[in-house]
Amino acid sequence: MLSKPLHDALNEQINHELSSAYLYLSMAAHCDAENLPGFAHWLRVQYREETEHGMKFYRYIYDRGNAVTLKAIAQPPTKFKSPLELFKQVLEHEKKVTGLINDLYALATKEKDYATQTMLQWFITEQVEEEKNATAIIEMLKMVGDSPVSLMMADRQLAARAGS
Ligand code: FEO
Repeated sequence: MLSKPLHDALNEQINHELSSAYLYLSMAAHCDAENLPGFAHWLRVQYREETEHGMKFYRYIYDRGNAVTLKAIAQPPTKFKSPLELFKQVLEHEKKVTGLINDLYALATKEKDYATQTMLQWFITEQVEEEKNATAIIEMLKMVGDSPVSLMMADRQLAARAGS
């Protein structure tokens, strides 16, 4: 069984992961509306990854003999000024999630819950990847600047992300 503070915090993280999924799906919807199918595809893949992150916490809570309580998910933003601004928001969001995962690890350490520390190591590694990916796209979009042709090429590049 998990300690109460850890159980509550892990349960809360399901909500954070599903909120992330909802944010990325909203971003994908915006990109579809803006005729940027490659960006929309990349963000939909991200949406699915976040639901899978939520499910990892869900399954882990049951693996430890506790139960899940789902909470409300707030409406995400629906309008974004530009692809560059959108991806800056992705990076800021991922930095926030990294902080949440680090807080969970600190709590698991305080509670002397070694199994949870081991489970969280996957997420610590994943957050490095998440921030790296968003940063790479921001750098690409800075080079794109105001060029519609370059934006179209960037859209094609993001369309190649594995997943559906
Ligand atoms: Fe679930 Fe993007 O971190």
